[in-house]
Amino acid sequence: MSAAWTDPHPADALLAQAADRFGTPAYVYFAEAIEARLADLATHLGPWFDLSYAMKCNPNPALLAWLAPRVPFLDVSSGGEFARACAAGWGADRISFTGPAKREAEIAAALSAGLGELVIESLREARIADALARGLGRVQDVLIRLAPARVPKGFGDQMAGRPSPFGIDAEDAGQVIPQILALPALRVTGLHIYSGTQCLRPEAIVENWRLFIDLFDRVAADHGLRPGRLVFGSGLGIPYHPGDVGLDLAQVAAGIGPDLEALRRHPRLGQARLVLELGRHLVGQAGYFVTRVVSTKTSRGARIALCDGGLNAHLAATGQFGMVLRRNYVIHRVGGGAGLERVDLTGPLCTSIDRLAGGVDLPPLAEGDLIAIHASGAYGYTASPRDFISHPHPRELWVQDGRIADVTPPGA
Ligand SMILES: Cc1ncc(COP(=O)(O)O)c(C=O)c1O
Repeated sequence: MSAAWTDPHPADALLAQAADRFGTPAYVYFAEAIEARLADLATHLGPWFDLSYAMKCNPNPALLAWLAPRVPFLDVSSGGEFARACAAGWGADRISFTGPAKREAEIAAALSAGLGELVIESLREARIADALARGLGRVQDVLIRLAPARVPKGFGDQMAGRPSPFGIDAEDAGQVIPQILALPALRVTGLHIYSGTQCLRPEAIVENWRLFIDLFDRVAADHGLRPGRLVFGSGLGIPYHPGDVGLDLAQVAAGIGPDLEALRRHPRLGQARLVLELGRHLVGQAGYFVTRVVSTKTSRGARIALCDGGLNAHLAATGQFGMVLRRNYVIHRVGGGAGLERVDLTGPLCTSIDRLAGGVDLPPLAEGDLIAIHASGAYGYTASPRDFISHPHPRELWVQDGRIADVTPPGA
């Protein structure tokens, strides 16, 4: 993908229409792009995996409702997400509940509503769930989340392979798992690993999934388990920055395919349904963040375009959401334009960290122009401090069959 756009982008007519009708800043999600991503995942990884959508990356109610008939499972990470998912039409039995610091009250609410699987991340959680399930007079299905001892290089965020709040360390599994298995109101139906996100290197993903298989194998053998479900936290990334190359799922499939075929014949693990848990790879590239230029200036030789949405509306694009080295997202001027000018894009906040881009080459910008930031469909709207300095919240807009709908949650 080119770093500099002078031609109009194929999405521009709809992005401009969306901004003119509903205002800016706005997140604009394209249903057809998610559909295409689902098809790509089905082609390359569908022979082995069912999908589970991790709604933390984008919990928009319209998106959740659209996904409900298209994706078999959903992963939530709080009682609030669980309630949103049920309200959007997801049956509780298709939902898993992951998360490192679950409160007793949210576990209780999910269990009493018929949660499919609780993902156990500690012995404390297992004991709480066991007591709650006993109180409800039933047995709760649970998955045990394991934290592998190693994560290959190449993941944007690493959640295991070092001290980590997530899951049960592989080194401790031998001591902790028997205590979970002894709890009478829990049924351990499977194992779960999510150890790294945002990886664009097929060979690192393949290596990571092989580590998962080895750990699943070892834990199942040590504890006499025959898991019905094995959840692979995907780690599948998306290109955010100029020069990033999108992940080639065909290469991932070619690398891991033989291991997954062997897994089907495995004496203990062969019956397990394999689930790929993922967020950004499914929806991230289907979304654009659109912001309007409020004014421009030249300051000590630098061109600056000041926009109506910045860090408050799109934290991740400013590099404040877990980026080690701040890099610009892929950005274009809606409608293109002749020539290029190097410009900094800032937001409306009174802080110098409110910078959407530094030194990006765009057609010369003027007041009223629209900027589109790519790869904004995940970790955007709800991952941003929208109340900071009390600017209007962004809109969330849904584009399907060429029609644009305002799907901003009520009260936002
Ligand atoms: C347990 C778990 N599942 C799923 C995800 C989704 O990750 P991604 O959006 O990178 O696919 C995360 C991300 O942090 C996670 O912690």
